[in-house]
Amino acid sequence: MENMSLPKDFFPSTRLRRMRYQAFSRRLMRENHLSVDDLICPMFVIEGHNQKQKISSMPGVCRLSIDLLLQEADQLLNLGIPAIALFPIINPAQKSLDAGEAFNPEGLAQRAVRALKQSFPELGVITDIALDPFTSHGQDGLLNAQGYVINDETVAVLCKQALSHAEAGADIVAPSDMMDGRIGAIRHTLENNRHINTRILAYSAKYASSFYGPFRDAVGSAGNLGTGNKYSYQMDPANSDEAMREIALDLQEGADMIMVKPGMPYLDIIRRAKDEFGVPTFAYQVSGEYAMLKAAAQNGWLDEKQVVMESLLAFKRAGSDAILTYFAKSAAQWLKQ
Ligand code: PBG
Repeated sequence: MENMSLPKDFFPSTRLRRMRYQAFSRRLMRENHLSVDDLICPMFVIEGHNQKQKISSMPGVCRLSIDLLLQEADQLLNLGIPAIALFPIINPAQKSLDAGEAFNPEGLAQRAVRALKQSFPELGVITDIALDPFTSHGQDGLLNAQGYVINDETVAVLCKQALSHAEAGADIVAPSDMMDGRIGAIRHTLENNRHINTRILAYSAKYASSFYGPFRDAVGSAGNLGTGNKYSYQMDPANSDEAMREIALDLQEGADMIMVKPGMPYLDIIRRAKDEFGVPTFAYQVSGEYAMLKAAAQNGWLDEKQVVMESLLAFKRAGSDAILTYFAKSAAQWLKQ
């Protein structure tokens, strides 16, 4: 104490550490919480029976045939997870230039939705509205002779796809295609066909991101897409004002919820969206984010549970209501402990 060079009578005017001193006061002042109510689990479905395929770039995530999907959904429901988001893997022979398989009432997604809703009526089922699993070129829409994704013709197909999902029993349709005007067109189609309670979760601010790589492996669109990119419809990662315009339009056109995607590198967009619109705001912690955390965890470089829970809490702090994450099941289990 003799060498202490602090001025006499010095003390910090405010000691923020006082509240951090014990767990009970840390708990009392905690501003944000993650609960199982916030989690949506994306799932990949394949044809066949008793089929389970690993995805090499997404360790721990599998593609499942409908029977196994039902078993997994049962477990998720028992853990308290409110909803799942479904992504079909389409056989190459069923892919085409016009993506006709997208609205086949007997298609894989439609059959999976019917099976899920029949077995688990209380589990929310969200379907992806976009053509990339169904096009032979892996783009989210139809192409013209120059290879440009044509907007309005694509929207017409998206409406048919959304209607076929609603007819199969999907609770929420989630357009992830980024065509202009598709939310309004889908809303009209649903209303005209008396699907008045089918909710629309608009992937409003969906960026042209390289974090989707493992997903494209998972659904088998990476090979089809080749060196192609989605810059003419997905958003430029440099932009934030533009995301607000996209969200405003989607809400005006009838979206019930909006989404920001990817998640962790775009928390600023989530915060802005929540502040500016105050509507149900979802985030997608995408495949590349999953792969990144999982790889570091598997190498022993990061503590999986700690970093995953921290990342999910960060979504809550940024203003997300619900989070689509491939860690949904693990997080639900950890929340129970
Ligand atoms: C398809 C779609 C994509 C994702 C969800 N829906 C891929 C893409 O736009 O290329 C990505 C999800 C993820 O990376 O986890 N339109």
